[in-house]
Amino acid sequence: MNYHIVTYGCQMNLHESEKIAGILREKGFESESSLEDADIIVFNTCCIRENAENHAFGNIGALKKLKAKKKSLLIAVGGCMAQEEGKAELIRKRFPFVDIVFGTHNLPSLGDLIDQKRVRRRAVVQIAEARECVEDGVTPVRTSYPNAWVNIMYGCNNFCTYCIVPYVRGREKSRKAQDIISEVAALLQEGYKEITLLGQNVNSYNSDGQGGMSFPELLDAVASLDGKFRLRFMTSHPKDFTEEVAVVMARHKKISPHLHLPVQSGNNRILSLMNRRYTREKYLAEIEMLKKHLPDCEVTTDLIVGFPTETESEFEDTLRLVEEVGFSSAFTFVYSPRTGTKAASMEGQIPEEVQKSRIIRLVDLVNRKTREKSAEYVGRTVEILCEDYDEKKGYYLGRDAYGRMGYFQSEKNRIGEFITLKITKANGISLYGEAQD
Ligand code: 5AD
Ligand code: SF4
Repeated sequence: MNYHIVTYGCQMNLHESEKIAGILREKGFESESSLEDADIIVFNTCCIRENAENHAFGNIGALKKLKAKKKSLLIAVGGCMAQEEGKAELIRKRFPFVDIVFGTHNLPSLGDLIDQKRVRRRAVVQIAEARECVEDGVTPVRTSYPNAWVNIMYGCNNFCTYCIVPYVRGREKSRKAQDIISEVAALLQEGYKEITLLGQNVNSYNSDGQGGMSFPELLDAVASLDGKFRLRFMTSHPKDFTEEVAVVMARHKKISPHLHLPVQSGNNRILSLMNRRYTREKYLAEIEMLKKHLPDCEVTTDLIVGFPTETESEFEDTLRLVEEVGFSSAFTFVYSPRTGTKAASMEGQIPEEVQKSRIIRLVDLVNRKTREKSAEYVGRTVEILCEDYDEKKGYYLGRDAYGRMGYFQSEKNRIGEFITLKITKANGISLYGEAQD
C-alpha cells in the first residue's frame, strides 16, 4: 500500500508531514508514490494567506475523478486550514468524497482516525480545541537528509493582528529540554549534519515553564553536543530577541551565524497596528547588538506590504529599512485578510492594485540587495553542506551557513558532506563553485 502527502506552507508543516508519513508507515502504508498510485492521500494544509487555502481547495477538488475511479482510495485533509473555525464543515460540504478531516492538534491521532474510517461509511472528523500532549509519540520519516527539523515548542501567544496562527495552533507549549537534547543527539548519531530547532517564536521557549531551561540555555546545550554539525533555529521575534542569544551564537562555531528575524514593516505606526510590540529603532538596535557579538552574522526577514491603512510613505519606510539593514534575503508577502483576526475587520483595507505595485517595488529591491550580497562571494571560499543532486542541471547543491544555495559538479556522490567551495559565479541568490577537496 502506498501513500502520498501534499504539503502547503512552512517548515513547521514540512516537518509535520514527516510525522504524518511516520504514522502512515505504522498503519501499513509502505512507500511514497505518485497521486495516481496512492492508496491514501493526505493534504497537510496551511491557512496563513488566502492563496495557500485556494491552492489546497483546488487540489482537493481535482481528486474527485480519481476517487470515483478508485473507491478504496482514502483522502484525508489536515493541518491549519482544517483547524480554522468552520472550515471542516466547509471541506465536508464542498468535497463529500473526503474521508477524514483532522485539525493541527489531532495529528498524533491520524492512525486511529484511519482505523475508524475503515469500519464506517461516513467521514471521520476530529478537530480538538488544544494540543493534548507536547510529545506526539510519532517517529517521523525524515525526507531531508542531511538536515533534520526538531520542534522545540508549539503554538504562539502573540496575536499579531494580521495572523491566524495563534487561532489554529493554540497557545505556546514547550517540549522538555531533555527530550529535545536526546532527539538531537540521536539524530547526530544517525548521521544528520544540520539541525534546525523549530518554533513559532523560539525566544519565548519555556514561557510556560515546561521546558526546564531558557532558549539560550537550550541552544548552548544542543550546540555543546559532540560531532561536526550545524545548528540553526527559527523563528525569532524581535520583541523577545536578547543579547544572551547573541552571546551563545557567538560562543559556538556550530551555530550558524544567521538570524531569521521577521520585521514585517519599517514603520512604527504600522508595527503598532500589527501589535508587534517593537519599533523600527529597537529592531535596528538589536541588529547592531548582534553584529557587535557576531560581525559576520547575516540577517533575513519577513515583510508584509499593504497592511490596512498603510500609506505610500509608510510603505517607503519599509523600503528604507531594507536598504539600511542589508538583509541577505527576505520573504515578501502581500497582506492577506484572515477571517477572525483583528486586522481583517480594520477600516482602510488597501486596494489590490496598490498592494501589487508595492510588492513589485519591494521584491525588486530585495532581489537587488540579495544579488549584491551574493556577488560579494565570487572569489571567496565557503563551506556548504551538500544536500541534493539536481539531475536537470547536473550539479550537486547545498547551503552555506547562511542558507545560501551553492552548486558544484562532482564525479562522486557528496550528499551529506561538508564541502569547501571556491566561488566562481553568483547567479541571483545562488552561488556556483569548484569543490576544493
Ligand atoms: N498576510 C500576509 N502575510 C502574512 N504572514 C502571516 N500572516 C499573514 C497575512 N495575513 C507572514 C508574516 C510571517 C510569515 C510566516 O507569514 O510575514 O512572518
Ligand atoms: Fe503569527 Fe505573530 Fe505568532 Fe508569528 S509571532 S506566528 S506572525 S502571531
